[in-house]
Amino acid sequence: MFGRNKNNAPAVVDVNPGEVMAALGTVQEPELGGDLVTRKMIEDLKVEGGKVSFTVVLTTPACPLKNQIESEARAAVMSVPGVREVRVNFTSRVVPKFGGNHRQILPGVAHTIAVASGKGGVGKSTMSVGLAVALQQSGARVGLLDADIYGPNVPIMMGVETMASQQGERLIPAESHGVKIMSMAFFLTDSSPAVWRGPMVSKMIQELLTKVDWGELDYLVIDLPPGTGDASLTLAQTVPLTGAVVVTTPQDVALSDVVKGVEMFKKLNVPLIGMVENMSYFVCPHCRERTEIFGHGGELTAKRLDLPFLGEVPLHPAIREGGDIGMPLLVSAPDAPQSRAIRRVAEQAAARISVLTLKNRPASISNRTFIPLTPR
Ligand SMILES: Nc1ncnc2c1ncn2[C@@H]1O[C@H](COP(=O)(O)OP(=O)(O)OP(=O)(O)O)[C@@H](O)[C@H]1O
Ligand SMILES: [Mg+2]
Repeated sequence: MFGRNKNNAPAVVDVNPGEVMAALGTVQEPELGGDLVTRKMIEDLKVEGGKVSFTVVLTTPACPLKNQIESEARAAVMSVPGVREVRVNFTSRVVPKFGGNHRQILPGVAHTIAVASGKGGVGKSTMSVGLAVALQQSGARVGLLDADIYGPNVPIMMGVETMASQQGERLIPAESHGVKIMSMAFFLTDSSPAVWRGPMVSKMIQELLTKVDWGELDYLVIDLPPGTGDASLTLAQTVPLTGAVVVTTPQDVALSDVVKGVEMFKKLNVPLIGMVENMSYFVCPHCRERTEIFGHGGELTAKRLDLPFLGEVPLHPAIREGGDIGMPLLVSAPDAPQSRAIRRVAEQAAARISVLTLKNRPASISNRTFIPLTPR
């Protein structure tokens, strides 16, 4: 009988690597479009007997759709005659948003992410720290620039112990929880002005951006001061920004602050990565009941403003405490529900950055400009 030997056991069929690739060619990249083979995302295919292994090259280590890609790739390959076992490995190469002249200012930095809000105290710094740590934990190389010259608190929130240092003209960033950190706080002295005027703000931010040895980074997260002031303006005019993340809280989603912030980035031609709703809800630690203290509606507002909604982060004392003691909750309790919420936001942001970068680029270009990234 065809396909069976005389003991009626299935015959061993040699697996044809071409058929494996053809099967993988039916699996779509869920966000960027195109299939995994055309997008040159499959590498290192090995066939040994009925065992098949290959590596999927993602556009970000923080890819939220990794599991979906894995199960679809696995199912496709399992359907190839003779395949008994499939091993899917992952790696990632973050493709820079800009090339050529644009990269002269921050040559080793693939993406710059500005974190902004229309008004103060909504959790920009907390979200900047969260984004930076979550991306770092996914395996990316990450920097965090505290551009809040009025109240730079990133070093405290990140538990920085050794200040940034200077080597000749260059500034060497501090490092904590695996993230490179630069902040105005390292340079403020007693004689620093209490009130910064526009040109001084611009100059400080330019120095912090351009004189720092960031090395090779996949993502540089930039925590902005509140509002639509000089800092955002200077930033957008000094470096090509991959995009901005706008942080809101439910009580100000309806306010014109959010709209103003969004409009400013649009005017400056800075793409919007999306909106995060922080302090979104509170889960009572005793009764587990979810209360929406400030109301709800971030997702709706995002839709109305035509912004991708990156997710919501609950109001929780552990998030504030983590900031106060310099030990982000993502580090001390990576599996806490609040940490998961922040991680989801970071993954959505990373996915959106890949889309902004690669959606309309032919796969062949992305393959040549890849920066290799060591998987964790
Ligand atoms: N989800 C949260 N749950 C509990 N506390 C939070 C949360 N997000 C932020 N906080 C706390 O709220 C306070 C303000 O947050 P943060 O400093 O991040 O805001 P900000 O927008 O950067 O403020 P500013 O406009 O002054 O720069 C901090 O004490 C922080 O720990
Ligand atoms: Mg802040």
